[in-house]
Amino acid sequence: MNREDFPILQHDLIYFDNGATTLKPQCMIDAVVDYYSNYTANAHRGDYDNSLKVDLLYEGVRTKVQHLIDAESSNEIVFTKGCTESLNMVVFGFMKNYLQPGDEVLITKAEHASNVLPWLELEKKMGIVVKYIPLSETNEVTMERLEQTVTSRTKVISLAQVTNVIGDLRPVEQIGEFCEKHHILFVVDGAQSVPHMKVSVRDMKADFFTFSAHKMTGPTGVGVLYGKYELLQAMEPLEVGGGMNSFFESDGTFAYHDAPSKFDAGTPNIAGVIGFGAAIDFLQSIGLDKIHEHELELKRYLVQELEKVPGITVYNKEVDGAIVAFNIDGVFSQDTAVYLNHYHICVRAGNHCAKMLKDEIKVKNTCRISFYLYNTKEEIDRLIAVLQNKEELYNTIL
Ligand SMILES: Cc1ncc(COP(=O)(O)O)c(C=O)c1O
Repeated sequence: MNREDFPILQHDLIYFDNGATTLKPQCMIDAVVDYYSNYTANAHRGDYDNSLKVDLLYEGVRTKVQHLIDAESSNEIVFTKGCTESLNMVVFGFMKNYLQPGDEVLITKAEHASNVLPWLELEKKMGIVVKYIPLSETNEVTMERLEQTVTSRTKVISLAQVTNVIGDLRPVEQIGEFCEKHHILFVVDGAQSVPHMKVSVRDMKADFFTFSAHKMTGPTGVGVLYGKYELLQAMEPLEVGGGMNSFFESDGTFAYHDAPSKFDAGTPNIAGVIGFGAAIDFLQSIGLDKIHEHELELKRYLVQELEKVPGITVYNKEVDGAIVAFNIDGVFSQDTAVYLNHYHICVRAGNHCAKMLKDEIKVKNTCRISFYLYNTKEEIDRLIAVLQNKEELYNTIL
């Protein structure tokens, strides 16, 4: 759907790497160009027309994000440079002061590096304990396994809402309910969920929620950190400087603004945030429910067609999501990706930044196809035809 809105799709290109980043619609590109061409000014600083226009638009996007994820207030929305920075802010700006040595943080081996390494850093530096919720036979998180892993020292559960290799949707509402009851903080990585479905941070009772604009038709270099307001107020800014302070004096006294402004040190990515606003409008004009349905249909179709090709293993058949992880038996995943590239088919190969997942699915590297709204069944037919041509495959990679 809406293929005509994406200039890059006028080229001979089948783009199946949407989990990494998505293509950009003309309206988003236009919004960025418009800011640079017609009303460039800094944010939160000037008293002239263009500057006031920038403030209105920039803060307007905060409100759009608030509604997109169903936050209670736009003051709970912090702009960052991406999901990775948002998760680092949660861990080093808040958890570092909140947690004590011996406190437990639960994650899984299917998490993205950005939701693993900050915790491992804290484990190394201050002696918190990182524990892994064992996954089910279908590589999913179940309440039973989660509850069995929780102890009286568990202070945080930090999970992706949708994982980036298996593509499974975690039962976040049940987990949030459980966390609230047991006074455990719930951190949700929404990098692979917000682009594809309606989410509500209030329904899932998330304490912190993070995602990136570039995975949802927005520009690179923009992300979101949602936090319950009292938690954001208690969180330390990792950067300090202009725009976030209320005063500083030569006697050494200083004070910062309240959240979210205290996290806006320096000139923010104004063009990016404005482009992100256009991307949100674009997705909402189509409807996230419609996008989700379309992707599920594509996934079911792809799995059904892949099953007809001999010698292919699919690792996440049972899971309903926009992602298919597979390998051609006996072929290194990167070789498959290079072969597909000859036909201008873009897929991702490797460990997809989930380097511990191999312990669960018993395979180190996979090819990943991740869909978005503009993908079609015809593109899948083309992929299947190319995968069926084993002779050409072996000629290319040998
Ligand atoms: C589940 C998940 N979390 C976090 C990230 C990090 O996002 P970014 O690279 O935009 O910071 C990704 C990116 O692939 C992801 O898939």
